[in-house]
Amino acid sequence: MATLKGLILSGGKGTRLRPLTYTGAKQLVPVANKPVLFYAIEDLVEAGVTDIGIVVGDTREQVMAAVGDGSRFGARVTYIHQEQPLGLAHAVLVSEPFLGNSPFVMFLGDNFLLEGISGYVEEFRRGEADALVLLHRVPNPTEFGVAELVDGRLVRLIERPKEPPSDLVIVGIYMFRPVVFEAVHNIRPSWRGELEITDAIQFLIDRGHAVDYRVINGYWIDTGKKDDLLDANRVVLETLEPRVEGFVDGQSRLYGKVIVEKDAQIINSVVRGPAIIGERTKIINAYIGPFTSIYHDCLVERAEVEHSIVLEFSRIQDLDHRVADSLIGRYVEITRSPTKPKAYNLMLGDHSRVGVV
Ligand code: DAU
Repeated sequence: MATLKGLILSGGKGTRLRPLTYTGAKQLVPVANKPVLFYAIEDLVEAGVTDIGIVVGDTREQVMAAVGDGSRFGARVTYIHQEQPLGLAHAVLVSEPFLGNSPFVMFLGDNFLLEGISGYVEEFRRGEADALVLLHRVPNPTEFGVAELVDGRLVRLIERPKEPPSDLVIVGIYMFRPVVFEAVHNIRPSWRGELEITDAIQFLIDRGHAVDYRVINGYWIDTGKKDDLLDANRVVLETLEPRVEGFVDGQSRLYGKVIVEKDAQIINSVVRGPAIIGERTKIINAYIGPFTSIYHDCLVERAEVEHSIVLEFSRIQDLDHRVADSLIGRYVEITRSPTKPKAYNLMLGDHSRVGVV
């Protein structure tokens, strides 16, 4: 069989992560201080898939700057420009020149799978299926593509059904042989105006092509929403080994799994893991609680943060109450208002959300 290629989808809009996604790619939001997208690249490389196309849209410059030519992941990356996010099957369509006659693994750049994909990729390589999809049981199937099985066979895929036929949803990792191009060329846009990959797979099923599935049991999440990101962050932090590469002064205490990255400083503070403190970040007279990732170049001073993700160059200072369950973007400042009257002094972008005590 021809060598498998990889296709990662990193375009799209990311409306559910606004305001972060007004200025940044949702696939670059860090989970345990590593962009979600990097986990996808690593999963592909681990499965032996190193010739990888990344579909990019409006945020292509950031994605290209972050990933580069892929060499540091042991991959060769080709960027594929999609003018507009017209659907997952449209992304496959515009990738046809890159994919050629190769079978491929398609990975949605905001999906996160803890167990990796090597086993599934190997089964696909050895097997005969024209497509292999991964399914996962969830309590909220109406938010995803849903699978209908009859006698153990996959017969139907429906995108966000009001009345789901099962609780088995489609994970954003798919494997295809080139016959999928016949499907993506023939389907029409859906009610949401997108060329749906579910319709392309349905096309294959209806024409008698072999579409196989596996139900995954491990942890999977679509990180497109704040709470899901925090959840992925929690799960990944728990798997990391503690290490201190920065400076921790004698007055500070680290409990449990704590990672202090290069040139970070912990001064007169308590960090209760699992938590990660990014490069050059300063934690001064502060408390960092469990399940927190503070990215690079931040400052937390006389403040408490837990179960949160803070992106780079942000500053949290002099707070009376703990920051919790929060996703804080880049260059954000949360400080005490210096002026009278005693008031909230806000400068928030569109779609910001603030919960006051
Ligand atoms: O996460 C799993 C779900 O992913 C599946 O259950 C659904 O069947 C599937 O349609 C998809 O649903 P979403 O609506 O959540 O996909 P989203 O629009 O978030 O796009 C997924 C990734 O693909 C994201 O990283 C953005 C990128 N993308 C998306 C579109 C529509 C592109 O690169 N180009 C596009 O045109």
